[in-house]
Amino acid sequence: MSQSRRGSRQKGSRAKSSDDRDHVRVNTARGRKISSTRWLSRQLNDPYVLQARKAGYRSRAAFKLTELDDRFGFLRGGAQVVDLGAAPGGWTQVAVERAGKDNVIAVDASPMDAIVGAQIITANILEDASIEAILEVTRDGVDVVLSDIAPAATGHRSTDHLRIVALAEAAFDVACRILRPGGVFVAKVYQGGAERDLLDALKVAFRTVKHAKPNASRKESSETYVIAIDFGAADAETVPHVET
Ligand SMILES: C[S@@+](CC[C@H](N)C(=O)[O-])C[C@H]1O[C@@H](n2cnc3c(N)ncnc32)[C@H](O)[C@@H]1O
Repeated sequence: MSQSRRGSRQKGSRAKSSDDRDHVRVNTARGRKISSTRWLSRQLNDPYVLQARKAGYRSRAAFKLTELDDRFGFLRGGAQVVDLGAAPGGWTQVAVERAGKDNVIAVDASPMDAIVGAQIITANILEDASIEAILEVTRDGVDVVLSDIAPAATGHRSTDHLRIVALAEAAFDVACRILRPGGVFVAKVYQGGAERDLLDALKVAFRTVKHAKPNASRKESSETYVIAIDFGAADAETVPHVET
């Protein structure tokens, strides 16, 4: 076996060229799929992954919420917040920092590690029993519902699309049941057609619906976020106010 081929079995190495000094090159390894090698390379070279690690955030997604809140200012101190699809917990950490301790309820279908200042509920928002559990702990209503929910990809395009739409609609349904008048709903949606119905429904339920794709959201991803403001204040007589 040649030296270069033997070298290619190593896990990864810092590129030596002067114009790409900090890039970590991930070499192929026996048993590792090309897609895994690509994922590993992207993780190791993603500035948000490195920044999240330094800042103690559990996910790079924390910076998406930070950017959205810096722009729209919905996480004021004292706001009661429900974070749907919260694991591993980056958004919840940011929500606790900004809205304050004991003001955040984190919901995910998968169990997640405790976060000081947040209440964690393991619940699948597609199941009635889980919805009941969420309603039970939000009896007095909340000010903000966040949803960064995303299904595990099956790789089958139309199945994935249907799941995404079903989850976005379920999150919207939960928001409508627990938000106080004037509340805010921030949700991940995917561009691609079927989000139109959801947007129409949002425009009926909220006074203003804005769209934003934070810098931390990967350019190649079709995900984007809607920020629906002032729950219960849409005027049926007026054309909904949509901003980009
Ligand atoms: C992109 S991750 C969320 C990342 C999170 N915002 C953060 O900052 O760490 C999407 C989450 O949605 C959750 N999820 C998917 N389907 C769900 C469902 N039906 N009910 C509740 N959570 C769900 C997944 O378990 C996953 O943890």
